[in-house]
Amino acid sequence: MAHNLLAGKKGIIFGALDDQSIAWKVAERCVEEGAKITLTNAPVALRMGAINALGEKLNAEIIPADATNMEDMENLFSKSMEILGGKVDFVLHSIGMSLNVRKKREYTNIKYEWMQKTFDISAMSFHRMMQTMWKLDAINDWGSVLGLTYIAAQRVFPDYNEMAESKALLESYARSFGYHFGTEKNVRVNTISQSPTWTTAGSGVKGFDKFFGYADKMSPLGNASADACADYCISLFSDYTKMVTMQNLYHDGGFSQMGMNPAILENDDEV
Ligand SMILES: NC(=O)c1ccc[n+]([C@@H]2O[C@H](COP(=O)([O-])OP(=O)(O)OC[C@H]3O[C@@H](n4cnc5c(N)ncnc54)[C@H](O)[C@@H]3O)[C@@H](O)[C@H]2O)c1
Repeated sequence: MAHNLLAGKKGIIFGALDDQSIAWKVAERCVEEGAKITLTNAPVALRMGAINALGEKLNAEIIPADATNMEDMENLFSKSMEILGGKVDFVLHSIGMSLNVRKKREYTNIKYEWMQKTFDISAMSFHRMMQTMWKLDAINDWGSVLGLTYIAAQRVFPDYNEMAESKALLESYARSFGYHFGTEKNVRVNTISQSPTWTTAGSGVKGFDKFFGYADKMSPLGNASADACADYCISLFSDYTKMVTMQNLYHDGGFSQMGMNPAILENDDEV
């Protein structure tokens, strides 16, 4: 149900690939809550076409931008400000891709060129996005910047591979840029640490189906869905969370606080 929480606000949503994407759900919820948005993704993702349907449905323009390319990023923010009629109030970074995971290289046999590319796409792009906003003065006072992350930044999940370090870097950028943005522009920067979620990026991790069930059982509330994540994003874009910044916020049904859940032992054949 919509409550007009983002009435009059403008935003940019990165990373809607298909209707399973977390960013897809966030974009839909933002518009339901009264925001005007632009959508962006890598040119290669745009060629897959699904995002066009979302753009039409939400009356949102789609601006291609490879998140590793500075010119694309500048063009995205300049064009978005033109289309939306001024600076933005919120931005979602929902980008993740690991070359070593995709090409099934083990963590103990990493190819470093791929690792660098992974960091560039999945983490440095967050800094690049914020630096672009900073330089172009593209975000309003009391705006909100969000990135999506995973608890493998703090704890060991062996199959998450180099994405663990990527997420640690992403979360660190949120704190460091959060200082600058907070001090100079009253803008908040946070990351949401989301439960395992059935998406293209999520299901690319080895053993994802079994792990999804494990996390669901371990979490007192069960895994948080992409829809629930979208609701949480709305609250963080809204004016009800103005003083929350530089935080890594767990949205995981309680998983991050659990040590052991008897439910896992009772049903260990099914896990
Ligand atoms: N799915 C999960 O289990 C899970 C859990 C926690 C956090 N996350 C994070 O949520 C975010 C969104 O992922 P998702 O699960 O919705 O999967 P997804 O595959 O739908 O989204 C990933 C997006 O990254 C985009 N992308 C890849 N390379 C890019 C580039 N060079 N430039 C611009 N965009 C690029 C893809 O096109 C895609 O839209 C990611 O940061 C992911 O790590 C996912």
